[in-house]
Amino acid sequence: MSSPTSFASITEVEAALRAHSYLPQRGLASSLFLALAIEKPLLLEGEAGVGKTEAAKALAAAMGARLIRLQCYEGLDVAHAVYEWNYARQLLHIRAAQEGAVDEQELFGPEFLIRRPLLEAIASDEPVVLLIDEIDRADDEFEAFLLEVLSDFQITIPEIGTISAKRRPAVILTSNRTRELHDALKRRCLFHWITHPPLEREIEIVRLRVPGVPERLAAEAAAFVAGLRTMDLAKAPGVAETIDWAHALAALGCEELDAEVVEQTLGSVLKYYEDFETVRDDAVAQLLREAREAAAIVPAGAGLASSLRERRGSVS
Ligand SMILES: Nc1ncnc2c1ncn2[C@@H]1O[C@H](COP(=O)(O)OP(=O)(O)OP(=O)(O)O)[C@@H](O)[C@H]1O
Ligand SMILES: [Mg+2]
Repeated sequence: MSSPTSFASITEVEAALRAHSYLPQRGLASSLFLALAIEKPLLLEGEAGVGKTEAAKALAAAMGARLIRLQCYEGLDVAHAVYEWNYARQLLHIRAAQEGAVDEQELFGPEFLIRRPLLEAIASDEPVVLLIDEIDRADDEFEAFLLEVLSDFQITIPEIGTISAKRRPAVILTSNRTRELHDALKRRCLFHWITHPPLEREIEIVRLRVPGVPERLAAEAAAFVAGLRTMDLAKAPGVAETIDWAHALAALGCEELDAEVVEQTLGSVLKYYEDFETVRDDAVAQLLREAREAAAIVPAGAGLASSLRERRGSVS
């Protein structure tokens, strides 16, 4: 079966991502659908571990497209993001030319070009999802450069000329907001803020990602993490942490949470010393109580979200 490169509806996007083990919330599926439909880049922001990077990966898989990822970092430059000349190869060529074996004029031809992710995405003949991950880590200058690429979908190489995209790649940018991005970049993108999933959805994600995890354990762990997120922590745990925790708990053979196992495994969820100070024994006891209650009523569904929200207010 061939995968679609575009989708007929938001529901189709949802189903295609699900088929690749990603359970998007409706808002994200809508944004992806729109971004593809109007061929605009989509900027995904949200706290760490909410599924920004994975959304792009799942989209590529769902579209049967090639995923090209540009991981941003401070000091990222054109040579690593766009292209670089292959000096070693050029030197060999010069040597051959000196021996009269080849013509020297070809030294700056496409065969000496090393394509980096942006050029690779623009020049590709196949459908591509270009993931520009953690753009907030790159410098301002790189962001300014990116503006041009995302406006025109073309790249100019002085020695060769301008290379334009034959078909526009689907572009997903992610940011953790370590700094605010420029308005000019935001204007070129659709924007979607990914929130932590509602409890029912997070349980579903855990069960999908941790095969064989006992149903009750998945529900209690997800509810416990939801409770943690209402506390004043240095770093609220993301979906990634819930999944890691469920893995750890399942590896220990747990069927359900108790205070002792929480204490043994909390390092899968909390990553800051201060947060262990905040989540002391009495807080654990209360979170456990609430997680058990919430997990017990999850299958019933109705009214859960609001009742949980009310009770979360009491965790401190
Ligand atoms: N909706 C979801 N459906 C399925 N799996 C998910 C979902 N959201 C998150 N995950 C899982 O959670 C983990 C973390 O996701 P991901 O790495 O995409 O987070 P992120 O937002 O990019 O985090 P960071 O900001 O730290 O880079 C992944 O293993 C992913 O499989
Ligand atoms: Mg990421």
